[in-house]
Amino acid sequence: MKVFESVEEWRKHRAGLPRNLSLGFVPTMGYLHEGHLSLVRAARQNNDRIAVSIYVNPTQFGPNEDLAQYPRDRNRDLALLEKENTDWVLLPSDAEIYPPGFSTYVEPPEPSRLWCGQSRPVHFRGVCTVVTILFNLVQPTRAYFGRKDAQQAAVIRRMTQDLRFPVEIVVCPTIREPDGLAMSSRNVYLSPEERQRALVLSQTLAAGVERFRAGEREARVILESGTRQIANTPGVRLDYLGIVDQNTFAPVETVQPGNYMIGAVYVGKTRLIDNRVFESPGGCV
Ligand code: PAJ
Repeated sequence: MKVFESVEEWRKHRAGLPRNLSLGFVPTMGYLHEGHLSLVRAARQNNDRIAVSIYVNPTQFGPNEDLAQYPRDRNRDLALLEKENTDWVLLPSDAEIYPPGFSTYVEPPEPSRLWCGQSRPVHFRGVCTVVTILFNLVQPTRAYFGRKDAQQAAVIRRMTQDLRFPVEIVVCPTIREPDGLAMSSRNVYLSPEERQRALVLSQTLAAGVERFRAGEREARVILESGTRQIANTPGVRLDYLGIVDQNTFAPVETVQPGNYMIGAVYVGKTRLIDNRVFESPGGCV
């Protein structure tokens, strides 16, 4: 495994690779867990070589968000990636990604407008900008994203299509703790009591999907009982709960298979997001 801290060194290396070599790419902000590693494994299975980036991207954090506290553990991350037979790791500094004078940003597409886009106004602009920079540097055949961040995946799919990046976007399932909590680098912020309370999010979404399975089709009805469930949990504050089209992230009135139920909550100061997909009666979307 080779680690690149210099973008220039990486570009020289990339330019020397054969044209027909398939390259799988997993962009991350590090502090890796099984969710990230599931993407690395998917990339490993379907490509000749794989590259992982670890970069805590400042432009996707708002002024009052957790950029300074965001967990980092470079040596642990590198050991985990080595075990997964990663070929190349990009570890750029802020100055490499945003050199002095940097002033071009990508205006995020329609699926970014609501939900996380509303609660975190600069977030998707930062994500689209850094993913564009990384795609241009890495020039991957395929790039891997988690459904855990379903709105991000929809935004990146749309951007990739609109800007004609020659990259196949692959979205992989959410990896959860045994009790249902979606894995996230931010889970380390939770105290043991908060960790227990945080379960209400995945449970509310699972209950919503269950009501659909039992025959309920009105989004309003499912959302009302979900909102109540979260409101009744002390120490947890609802940011949003919605039922949306999986591509546009527009809210739907009548739930159909393939729609997502999405939610964001604050558990103490920690903001967590999660989602579940409504499945057709046969079990497939
Ligand atoms: P980060 O939060 O580190 O996540 C990197 C990738 O791992 C994302 O595609 C995310 O959806 C995926 N992921 C996180 N938790 C997961 C889980 N429990 N199961 C499956 N996949 C999971 O998302 C980002 O970084 C950044 O916004 C980034 C795309 C790197 C741009 O800065």
